[in-house]
Amino acid sequence: MSISPEPTVILPSEDHFPAIVEASKDKSLPKFLGENGDRLAEFLSSTGALLFRGFDVQNAYAFDAAVEAYGAENFRYAESLSNAVRVNVTDRVFTANEAPPETAIYLHHEMAQTPIYPSKLFFYCEISPSQGGATPICRSDKLIEHLQKVKPDLLAQFERKGVRYTHTMPPHDDPASGQGRGWRSTLGVESKEAAEDRLAKLGYDCEWHDGETLRVTTPVLDAMRTIADGRRVFFNQLIAAYRGWADDRNDPSRSIAFGDGSAIDAADMATAISLADDLTYDLNWQAGDVALIDNFLVMHGRRPFEGKRRVLASLIA
Ligand code: FE2
Repeated sequence: MSISPEPTVILPSEDHFPAIVEASKDKSLPKFLGENGDRLAEFLSSTGALLFRGFDVQNAYAFDAAVEAYGAENFRYAESLSNAVRVNVTDRVFTANEAPPETAIYLHHEMAQTPIYPSKLFFYCEISPSQGGATPICRSDKLIEHLQKVKPDLLAQFERKGVRYTHTMPPHDDPASGQGRGWRSTLGVESKEAAEDRLAKLGYDCEWHDGETLRVTTPVLDAMRTIADGRRVFFNQLIAAYRGWADDRNDPSRSIAFGDGSAIDAADMATAISLADDLTYDLNWQAGDVALIDNFLVMHGRRPFEGKRRVLASLIA
């Protein structure tokens, strides 16, 4: 892969995951991304994750400038159906998740539990945690390869039936939960009627519960996808929902089902989780790191941490 300006970058083989791009002489990430965007996109589509290390990215504004220079369309949090509580720092940049440090966020493809999702994700580490706080990343195509060997029937069921997710939203944002975004913010509405209307248009079922909480079940969504080069990927949020959608309102064991409403076997989920864990690489952040992740190819999460940690995100449509 030829890149310019030489020799700004050290790229390992395309099999390396994540591929680490190290700055040498020229440390301007906006310049590097601006000049190499097409080649990096091509490279990203094969390996799934790139880590830019040693570039001069001092703060959220510098990160914003780098993403802007990459030149792809912004996917706005405000307009998404993400269930995470996030705070915008700039139009493009927001906090990755306001959930408390002890909360683990398990492997998922970003917003794959909704009908609207980004194609790529940028992360930026402004403050690296003193302990823990890695971003686990896992190649979804590899997970499918392994699952195909041990659970072909499970994959056939996912393919045939799809999946549905159920979760209960609070009326207003609850930052104590990893899935605490309130229904007003999630749906961009103020009234219950408007919420019902929006959900109906999106094909969701919904039910009001005490305290103005809203239980929603998605339409049938694909549990797998085939990406442009023919690889199959485990594009869903099954692991994150089943392991982690736990708070005062939600029981994770009831968060997922096949598209026909039938239960997904717990032993099958345990196999998928164990295989994914074996394939996971922990991205241990250094301040100034920027990562670019192909959301169709790679799942991500967040390890619990201690101390201060600030990882920001920016999404590409
Ligand atoms: Fe995420």
